Parts: sequence; structure tokens; C-alpha cells
Amino acid sequence: MKAALVLGARPQIIKSAPFILLANKDRQVHLDIIHTGQHYDYEMTKVFFEELNLPDPLVNLNVGSGTHAQQTAKIMIRLEKILQKQRPELVVVPGDTNSTLAGAITAAKLHMPVAHIEAGARSYDMRMPEEINRRLTDHCSSLLFTSTENCTKNLAKEGIEKNKIHQTGDPMYDVLLQQLPKAEKSKILQQLDLKPKSYALLTVHRPENTDNPQNLKHIADAMIKLKPLTIVFPAHPRTTKQLRKRKLLSKIQKHEHIKLVNPTGYHETLKLMKNATLVLTDSGGMQKEAFWLRTPCITIRENTEWVETVQLGANHLAGADTQKIVDITRQIIENKEQIGKKLKELPNPFGDGRASEKILEAVRSYLIGSS
Ligand code: UD1
Repeated sequence: MKAALVLGARPQIIKSAPFILLANKDRQVHLDIIHTGQHYDYEMTKVFFEELNLPDPLVNLNVGSGTHAQQTAKIMIRLEKILQKQRPELVVVPGDTNSTLAGAITAAKLHMPVAHIEAGARSYDMRMPEEINRRLTDHCSSLLFTSTENCTKNLAKEGIEKNKIHQTGDPMYDVLLQQLPKAEKSKILQQLDLKPKSYALLTVHRPENTDNPQNLKHIADAMIKLKPLTIVFPAHPRTTKQLRKRKLLSKIQKHEHIKLVNPTGYHETLKLMKNATLVLTDSGGMQKEAFWLRTPCITIRENTEWVETVQLGANHLAGADTQKIVDITRQIIENKEQIGKKLKELPNPFGDGRASEKILEAVRSYLIGSS
């Protein structure tokens, strides 16, 4: 029974890893990986294949960067040819990137059933490209794997048939649990001369922040204002480009408390997150990872698709508001012991760390049922 997995961006490789490794050992399911090439720099893609011991993709479509239409369309055109040749019985798409959407539409139009990993997450903000990708992907999927009860409810509200939805839990939690022992061995703290619980970890890459000069400036101002708190800032390539363009790069580099570094690998990122006093981010995945590692999180967005983390009080929405970011950071630092205790007691709505097994089981049953 042949299935294909379409991925292309950094977080998709991470969240698919346990599923890929399980499928590789499975005697009934054969899984081909199709890499779209959405991400192409070593530290945005290859490093994760190496760290997570993943097999090479069957093919790389090498689409690279572009506008949303260009990137999505290029993937569709190139992927259609591969799918027509390979004829998988199911196409699996993880997450909410342009690769996810392009994979789902291309397969659905070829009448190939689609399975969506991380279905049902909603920020209800259609200005975010990921929200568009999530919604459209969910609505052309035959199998929808949800991370939480809330995601399952969101799908039900949109009229998606119950029998298509499998609440498996979140595969990002699986991979985190599996990789934490290796992450603990990372030497990144020594390399960056950091002491545990003495710094904030910052990442920014959403277009609403990087491509909006005002938001980017507000975030840079917050970093500067947070002095003397050490801020470790692994910058996404697009963020570095925009900071340079807006003349903010040299401005933040003048400040010793800001440690601007290249994008970090998965193990390094987990180690940095676990030992940070707090995480400041606009990433969806890092909000969940900070939650699992029980590190307080401030989200530099107006809203989030991972509302569970906010409802439980572990994650705070600050937008790109300099004063809010600074104020919440200070509150967290002042109350860090008390907050740490509270975070440890929180329930985990994201499953039991065996989501990938459940996903493979459902994929297997689906393929058996349709063959
Ligand atoms: C994409 C996803 C986002 C995900 C993120 C993870 C979409 C719409 N967005 O955003 O949901 O959270 O991946 O990182 O699919 N670039 C490089 N090298 C690379 C890749 C990108 O330099 O290997 C630069 C290019 O300037 C490019 C820009 O980053 O134009 C944006 O890349 P793109 O793939 O369009 O979106 P991401 O911001 O990475």
C-alpha cells in the first residue's frame, strides 16, 4: 500500500519525523517523501533530516521562494507530474504551509485521498497565510488528524463529517519526547556562553512581523528595552534580510545583550527553549514546545491557533507591541519561581506522545479499507 508525504518547510520535517520512521518499519505501508523545496538552506531543511535520522526524499521539487501564488503554483505543477507517475493511494500533508496547501489541492484534483496532520487548528485570522492553508486543506481532506479536543470541535463546527476526524494528539509532542535526551546533550549553552534560566529566547519570522516595517521596529525596540536581559535570537533568513533592509540589523547588533545567531537545529532549539527564562516568538510550533517544556511564552501576535496554551495561562499574546512585550517579560521574570510551579501542574491537552502511531494506524486502516 503506497502513500506519499508532501513536505517542504522546516516545521513540517520535525512534525513528520516520528510518522516517517514508523512508516519505514511498517510491512504494509510504503511511504515516499516528496520534498517541495520550499525551504532549501542547510539550516532550514537538511539539518533536520540529519538530526532526526530521516531517509532522503524520493524527490525534491526545488521550488524555492516566491510570492504565495508563485510558490504554491510551482509546487502544484511539479507535484502533479510526480503524483501521476507514482500513483500513491493516499497523500499525507502535515501542518499549514504553502507546501501543505499545494499538496492537498494537487492530490484532491487527481482524486487521490488526502490526510491532513494537524487538522482543525484555527486562529480565525484570514490575513495569516497559514489560516487560509489550514482551512482549505482541511476541506479537501478525507482523513483529518487533530491535536486537541478544540481542533476536533473546530472541524465539527465547519461541518466536516465525524468519521473523517481522528483525534490523535500532536506529533510535535511525540518528537519532542523522543528527542529530548539528545537535545539535553547539545552544547549550545556553552557555545553561546549562557547560564540556564538567565536569558530569553526570541524567534520572529511571520510576514505580519517581518514584512511590516512598523511591527519589525516595535519588536527591535522591545529587544533593546529589555536590556540587561540576555536575548538569544536565532534569526530566520527572511528576518535577517528585512532587518538589514530596514537598517535595524546594525542597530540591534550594537547591543551586547542581544545575541543574534544563525537558525539553530532542532536539538539546539529544544535545549535553548528548555533552559530559557521565557520564550518570545511568533511561531506556532514553538508556542506548543514552550508549553511542553514548561517555559513561559509570550507570543508576538494578536491571536493564535493554539488557544489551549493561552487558556491555560502558559502563553501570553502581546502582538508586536513594544510596551506589552516588555511589561509581560518583566512580570514573568519577577514571578518566575511561582510561574514555574504553576506551569508544572498544568494538564496537557495535546495527547499522550503517541500521535504518530495513531496516525499510522488510521492510515493503514484507511488503505486496507479502500483497496
Ligand atoms: C514558512 C511557512 C510558515 C512556517 C515557516 C517555518 C508558508 C506560507 N509559511 O514560512 O507557516 O511557520 O515556513 O519556517 O508556507 N528563505 C531563505 N532560505 C530558505 C527558506 C526561506 O532564505 O531555506 C527566505 C527567503 O527570503 C524567502 C523567505 O525566507 O522568501 C520566506 O520563506 P517562505 O518559505 O516563503 O516562508 P517562511 O517565512 O519560511
